[in-house]
Amino acid sequence: MKILGIETSCDETAAAVVEDGRRLLSNVVSSQIDIHKEYGGVVPEIAARSHIEAVLPVVHEALRVAFPTLPVADAWNQIDGIAVTYGAGLLGSLLIGTLTARTQALLHNKPLYAINHVEGHVYANFLTETTLEGYTLPHRQPEFPLLALIVSGGHTQLVLFEDHFKYQLLGRTHDDAIGEAFDKAAKILGLPYPGGPSIALAAAKGDPNAYSLPKANMADKYAFSYSGLKTALLRAAQREIGEDFTFPSHKLSERLSEAQKANFAASFQHVAIETVVDKTLKAYEEFGPKSVVIAGGVAASQELRRQLHERLPIPIDYTDPKLCTDNGAMVAALGCFVAKLKPESAKSHQADPLTLETMPNLVM
Ligand code: KG4
Ligand code: ZN
Repeated sequence: MKILGIETSCDETAAAVVEDGRRLLSNVVSSQIDIHKEYGGVVPEIAARSHIEAVLPVVHEALRVAFPTLPVADAWNQIDGIAVTYGAGLLGSLLIGTLTARTQALLHNKPLYAINHVEGHVYANFLTETTLEGYTLPHRQPEFPLLALIVSGGHTQLVLFEDHFKYQLLGRTHDDAIGEAFDKAAKILGLPYPGGPSIALAAAKGDPNAYSLPKANMADKYAFSYSGLKTALLRAAQREIGEDFTFPSHKLSERLSEAQKANFAASFQHVAIETVVDKTLKAYEEFGPKSVVIAGGVAASQELRRQLHERLPIPIDYTDPKLCTDNGAMVAALGCFVAKLKPESAKSHQADPLTLETMPNLVM
């Protein structure tokens, strides 16, 4: 079974073809990062307009790479269904992907699968085979019960999967997501968007113990909070240059030396990552899952992988960082399982191409 996946929930226009939920045949991502960089974050209106321009070329490229010897019309005949992210995400962005998928499903007479974006991130870990160059994939698929740490620009949560489509949310963030905190911290330090990679780069030259930043102490043991950490970083940076809390954050980075920025980046990254690792370890001890996976853009973090490797008793088979940030392959992979297992009343499900609506606030 070959599924075409389409993903446009935020600032990546992406499409991919996956076979049987494990074999990656193509993965095309057109990133808008350079457009949004100028504004220091994603501008929803610009994102939606960019998706309109990119979506059809990206879908065609995904088909061309998956079936290099066939013309596009014949490549469509090889596709058994179309999976598309219908939530959570930015409304305008989601609309472009879902309308494209709905139209193509009607045009080519294919079943349509509506995919929950956050659940999709987890399924990037089910991809174990590819002939595409430049991918390092896990050697085998995760097993159930499966503990998933989902860390992205919009989500920070621990989810325990008993089986496909049967899961329990252990806890999530009460305010900012970890990726959002990285992006905001980068802005304070005058580092480019997206914050995760640019903080990692600066942190490589810094001392993670240079500044003591707090971990949120939550009543609920699997809950997260990242808004305090961001503010703590701001206050520490203001103090460092001899100013008080009234000093404007956008002027801070001009007054910080490269060494100070590196130390702040390293200290911030260390604590931000240690917080999710602490709770993953706690959940591992409580529930004893067979596999642990990490998913979402922040799962690309080498520091997260390093800390988990150091502290978790079982090894994690990590996926390629390119499959951690938003992509169509994760959507297509989950689409294969929806098509095969036909879950009833699940968040990811088969949908009617005439009526599928977007759900910007969809949760797991
Ligand atoms: O999953 P994703 O591409 O989009 C959402 O669904 O949110 O995640 C984007 C987030 C951004 O906040 C970005 O700063 C973070 O993932 N990110 C990273 C890395 N690459 C992207 N964070 C830490 N280390 C990275 N290498
Ligand atoms: Zn995402």
